[in-house]
Amino acid sequence: MYLTTVLGNLLIIILIRLDSHLHTPMYFLLSNLSFSDLCFSSVTVPKLLKNMQSQDPSISYAGCLTQMYFFLLFADLESFLLVAMAYDRYVAICFPLHYTFILSPRLCLSLVVLSWVLATFISLLHTLLTARLSFCADNVIPHFFCDLSALLKLACSDIQINEIVIFIVGGLVTIVPFLLIFSSYARIVSSILKVPSARGIRKAISTCGSHLSVVSLFYGTIIGLYLCPSVGNSTMKETVMAVMYTVVTPMLNPFIYSLRNQDIKGALKNIFTKWMMHFSLGQ
Ligand SMILES: *[C@@H]1O[C@H](CO)[C@@H](O)[C@H](O)[C@H]1NC(C)=O
Repeated sequence: MYLTTVLGNLLIIILIRLDSHLHTPMYFLLSNLSFSDLCFSSVTVPKLLKNMQSQDPSISYAGCLTQMYFFLLFADLESFLLVAMAYDRYVAICFPLHYTFILSPRLCLSLVVLSWVLATFISLLHTLLTARLSFCADNVIPHFFCDLSALLKLACSDIQINEIVIFIVGGLVTIVPFLLIFSSYARIVSSILKVPSARGIRKAISTCGSHLSVVSLFYGTIIGLYLCPSVGNSTMKETVMAVMYTVVTPMLNPFIYSLRNQDIKGALKNIFTKWMMHFSLGQ
């Protein structure tokens, strides 16, 4: 599954880089999302595989904090990029004639940079707050990577500040993006219903469908984790959910985007044809 994640996301990044038809804000954001998925999966899975292979499930203190930092960085980045992509779809459907003017390359770059800055700041905050805790005797992390909440359970100093920050910042980072995405889709739906036409609906579904699937997958896991009444063992449930969002979601994203997307399929066909011609001319 990790190989599929790496290859699938790399393919999306390479296709978007090579095909000039795909040099639009929507695909630049998608390429950034793929990059973020690739890194997000690489923060946890290789270490997990190495530990499984060597039968030695240990991690150094510095390694643990580093893993936590990058895990939070790419999780937050993913969340902010999904907002930027929802805004892109909102402008494309509600203001189609002003799309290239509103979503200029500069705005697109600013949205990406802003996502990086916010994600860096938030993950640094959590990591620094965790670094000041002391960990005593029993340092067995009940998880397969250095998860923030799993680490806090092990701390023997006061974790009240950490919990408050997690509650406020964590809440803002999930709820604000969710509301922004929800409101942009509410506007998309209301603008389609104003002038309902089969063509308009089909166009909206084809351009928003993949994004909406990715968003549902992302928030579905979060909602499943935090809002559903706990089923059985909570450590077990947390682990299953964590596998879901560290392994399965980053793997599915490139497929969700490419399977029904004519532009990506076209780009793939173009590259393939070029390579075939190159090889047959070379012989
Ligand atoms: C991310 O988006 C920016 C802004 O459009 C773009 O210039 C950059 O190439 C993208 N990065 C990746 C890895 O696709």
